[in-house]
Amino acid sequence: MSLFSEASTPGLTPADYERKLAARDKTIDVLKRRIAQEARHSHATPFAILEQNVGLEKVVARKTMELENERHELEKALAELRLAQTQLLQAQKMESIGQLAAGIAHEINTPTQYVSDNVGFIKGATDSLLKLLNAALALAEVAREKMADDPAMAEFDTTLKRTKIDFLRRQIPGALDESLEGLEHIARIVAAMKEFSHPSKNVKERIDVRDVINTTVTVARNEWKYVAELETNVADNLPQLPCLRDMVGQAILNLVVNAAHAIADTLQEGVKEKGRIVISAFQNGDYLELRVQDDGSGIPAAIRDRIFDPFFTTKAVGKGTGQGLAIVYSTVVDKHNGKIRCESEEGVGSTFILQFPLNCRNEDEPACK
Ligand SMILES: Nc1ncnc2c1ncn2[C@@H]1O[C@H](COP(=O)(O)OP(=O)(O)O)[C@@H](O)[C@H]1O
Ligand SMILES: [Mg+2]
Repeated sequence: MSLFSEASTPGLTPADYERKLAARDKTIDVLKRRIAQEARHSHATPFAILEQNVGLEKVVARKTMELENERHELEKALAELRLAQTQLLQAQKMESIGQLAAGIAHEINTPTQYVSDNVGFIKGATDSLLKLLNAALALAEVAREKMADDPAMAEFDTTLKRTKIDFLRRQIPGALDESLEGLEHIARIVAAMKEFSHPSKNVKERIDVRDVINTTVTVARNEWKYVAELETNVADNLPQLPCLRDMVGQAILNLVVNAAHAIADTLQEGVKEKGRIVISAFQNGDYLELRVQDDGSGIPAAIRDRIFDPFFTTKAVGKGTGQGLAIVYSTVVDKHNGKIRCESEEGVGSTFILQFPLNCRNEDEPACK
C-alpha cells in the first residue's frame, strides 16, 4: 500500500526549513545591531543621526514585517511537511504490516491445509471404524453367552468398560465436525488476510466491490464482533468499479473501526447490549455509492468539520491517531475523484457516504479507458 506517495519527494526537508527560519531570525538581529552601531560611530549632528535612525528604523520595521510574514509562511510549510512525512511513515508502516500479514497468511495456510486434509481423512476413517465397532459389539453380544467362562471374554468386557465406549461413540464425530468447521474458519480468515494485504499495484483495476467488503469485514471481525452486529447490503446489479482495491479496502476498514469505536462508547453507558453497523453499496447515477452506517455516539456538530483533518482525534492515545478519516478522504477525493460526506446526529449515529465515479476516464489507467 502506498498511501500519500506523492509526499515522498518534497523539495525541502524540515531541517532545511528550520535552517531557513534561523537564517531569517539572524538577519533581523544583524539589522538591529547595525542601527545601534550607526548611531554610536557616526560623526553627524545629533539631529542628522536622529533623522537617519528614523529612516533606518522604518526600513527595519518594514523588513522585519516582511521577514515575519515569510517566517509565518515557512512555519506553515514546515508543519505541512511534517504532516506529509508522518503520513508517509504511516504508509510505509502499513506496507510492512501488509507484507508481514501476507507472509504470515501464507505460513498459516500450508499447515492449515494439511491439518484439514488429515482431519477430513480421520473423520471418514472414524465413520468406518465406528461401523466396524458396532459390528464387533453385536458379535460380542452373541459370543458372550457361548464364551461365558472364557477368560478372553472377561478381558474383552473389562477393556470395554474402561474405554467408556458409549461416550466415545457419541463425542468423536461431533469433535471432528467442530474441528473441521474451525479449520474452515481459519482458512477463510487467512484467505481474506492474503487478499487484504496483497501488495497494491497502485494501478486501478475493475473489481467487484462486494469482494472487498466481504474481505474487509472478515479481516476486521475482531474489531466489531464484541460490540455490533454487522450487516452488508450490496445491490445485485452493482457494476464493477475501477479503483485502487487496497485503498478502498483500507477506507472501509477505517470506517468500520470508527463505527465500532463509536458504538463501544455508547455501550459503556449500558443502554443496549450491541450496536449495528450496516455497509451498503449501490449505484447512484454515475457513481458507486458506499455507505457505512452505525448507531454509535454520533459526532458533535462542533467538531464535524474537523473530522477529516489529519491528526484530528477525540480518542485516547493508543486508540486513535486521527489519521483514519484523513486517509479515507484522500482515497476517495484525491485518488478516485470521488466525493465524501458524513451525516451524523449526536446520540443517534453516523453514516459516511462515499461516492466513487464509475467512469474514471484516464488514458493512463487501463481500467479507465
Ligand atoms: N463513526 C463515527 N462516529 C462517531 N465519531 C466518529 C466516527 N468516525 C470518526 N469519528 C470522529 O472523528 C475523529 C477522527 O477519526 P479518525 O480520523 O478515524 O481518527 P481516530 O479514529 O484515530 O480518532 C474520531 O476521533 C471521532 O471523534
Ligand atoms: Mg479511526
